[in-house]
Amino acid sequence: MKLVVASDHGGFSLKQAIIEHLQANGHEVIDAGTDSEESVDYAVYAKKAASMVASGACERGIVVCGTGIGISISANKVHGIRCALCTNEFMTKMARRHNDANMLAMGARILAVPYALTLVDLFLEEPFEGGRHQRRIDQIAEIERGD
Ligand code: RB5
Repeated sequence: MKLVVASDHGGFSLKQAIIEHLQANGHEVIDAGTDSEESVDYAVYAKKAASMVASGACERGIVVCGTGIGISISANKVHGIRCALCTNEFMTKMARRHNDANMLAMGARILAVPYALTLVDLFLEEPFEGGRHQRRIDQIAEIERGD
């Protein structure tokens, strides 16, 4: 799968671990920054990653900040993005099965690296169930359009 991964400084080390993990599993990964632990603004990197998913340049995206909160709120401002902030396996499964999340957000100060990588795998493996959930996704898109 072609993926984009981005973080602020708080998520930098987890982002690096995610990229290594994804590449080791044969995924094509675009690293949308940041490039160090020097303080930066999460909205900048959320926008870079979310725009690549919204345009179709990447199939899905993963974003990380200290808590996952700021970067997920920011990513969700880009039309077409359904970015789910997940802290456990159940949330991650549901984010795919019910919400068809196209981006995963995590907090590097919340999750241990091995557990975060487990969530990354679930996010990529779990299918969207469609059916009544598609109707709800369509309603989210209506809100975006202002209908
Ligand atoms: C940066 O210190 C921190 O505020 C940021 O990584 C994130 O947790 C914001 O939601």
